[in-house]
Amino acid sequence: MQPQIIGLPKFEDPRGNLSFIEEDKHIEFTIQRTYWIYDVPSGQVRGGHAFKKQHELIVALSGSFDVEVDNGEKKQNFSLSRSYYGLYIPAGLWRQMQNFSTNSVALVLSSTHFDENDYIYDYSDFLKYRNIHG
Ligand code: TYD
Repeated sequence: MQPQIIGLPKFEDPRGNLSFIEEDKHIEFTIQRTYWIYDVPSGQVRGGHAFKKQHELIVALSGSFDVEVDNGEKKQNFSLSRSYYGLYIPAGLWRQMQNFSTNSVALVLSSTHFDENDYIYDYSDFLKYRNIHG
């Protein structure tokens, strides 16, 4: 699967809207971990690295930010600003989050537990990894 925006259910209600995600239904993986990024100062960049195994869904629960996804040959930019859309990112891609608005919250649903060995932190290592595994 390619990186892509996935529409999530949205129950519009005069009392306030509701959205949800169910594993193996709206996303094709079992959620082993959920984390969120918040209180990001203006101009800061988060998540500049790749994962070997982890795939993920990123949701802008509040506010907006951009996610740049890079396969080593081309970069795609996804702007997230609605909590009823998620960005699915498969394993093996470099991704970074930037242009966070004030009070934005990035929710990340991950297919793996936290494992530092799954990270590729260095961009030249990433390019080598892509050549071997891409
Ligand atoms: P990291 O993924 O490096 O954040 P970013 O890529 O946005 O800079 O995580 C920052 C720190 O948080 C790092 O020391 C590892 C720790 N961490 C956990 O312990 N568990 C987690 O699930 C995550 C995502 C990070």
